[in-house]
Amino acid sequence: MRLVHSVAELREALAGSRDTAFVPTMGNLHAGHVALAEIAARHGRPVVASIFVNPLQFGAGEDFERYPRTLAADCDKLASVGTDIVFAPDVAGMYPEPQTYAVLPPLAGELCGAHRPGHFQGVCTVVLKLFNMVQPRYAVFGKKDYQQLHVLKGMVRQFNLPIEMIGAETSRAEDGLALSSRNGYLSADERAEAPRLYRLLRQAASRIAAGERDFAALENAAAAELTAHGWRVDYVAVRSRTTLLAPASGESAFVILAAAHLGTTRLIDNLEC
Ligand code: PAF
Repeated sequence: MRLVHSVAELREALAGSRDTAFVPTMGNLHAGHVALAEIAARHGRPVVASIFVNPLQFGAGEDFERYPRTLAADCDKLASVGTDIVFAPDVAGMYPEPQTYAVLPPLAGELCGAHRPGHFQGVCTVVLKLFNMVQPRYAVFGKKDYQQLHVLKGMVRQFNLPIEMIGAETSRAEDGLALSSRNGYLSADERAEAPRLYRLLRQAASRIAAGERDFAALENAAAAELTAHGWRVDYVAVRSRTTLLAPASGESAFVILAAAHLGTTRLIDNLEC
């Protein structure tokens, strides 16, 4: 496996590659990221993983500074599943001058976008830059960041990027908690409480499967249950799986998305139903 830091080195390492499979990450990798690299390897070669904690997608007062930087351990994990190239640029290499931004569609201002202003603009900007640097044929993203995947698929479609976007199922701990780099922030008590988020999504999903269509009631009940157990809820929302907007009548493919804070840690999760 080759570790490169500059775009020039990356281009040299990738010269002539046509079937590159790419996994963008912010490092501090867990088993879910490793699974993404394995999925990438089933689609194309070389497999490139990027590790870059992107300042543009963090708001004021968020965890940019404390986000763990664990490059050596991350490289070991990626090497163990046959990743060919790790691209780990620094902030000056990524943003050497004031950056041009595209204006995002309204959906990027909803759900997580409503609670993290500018977040998806930061995500789209860095991913577009990474796509241009790596020029992959395939790109793999986790479905845990469901809205991110949806917004990025839109960007790829709307800017006609010749990239196949692959969404990977969420990896979970045995008690159901979605794997996340941010789980490491949780205290022992918070970690014991955290699986409630996914339990409530499953309860709501089974009620939808049983025919419940009063989505506001489901959302409010789940949010109230979280609040009663000490969470600070950003949102619980039932949306159309295809548009991520409020479901139209007659819609049959849903996703329930939630974001809530336990102490100083913001957790997100979702469930298709
Ligand atoms: O999902 C993430 O880890 C990040 O948002 C991404 C896609 C690597 C962009 O910084």
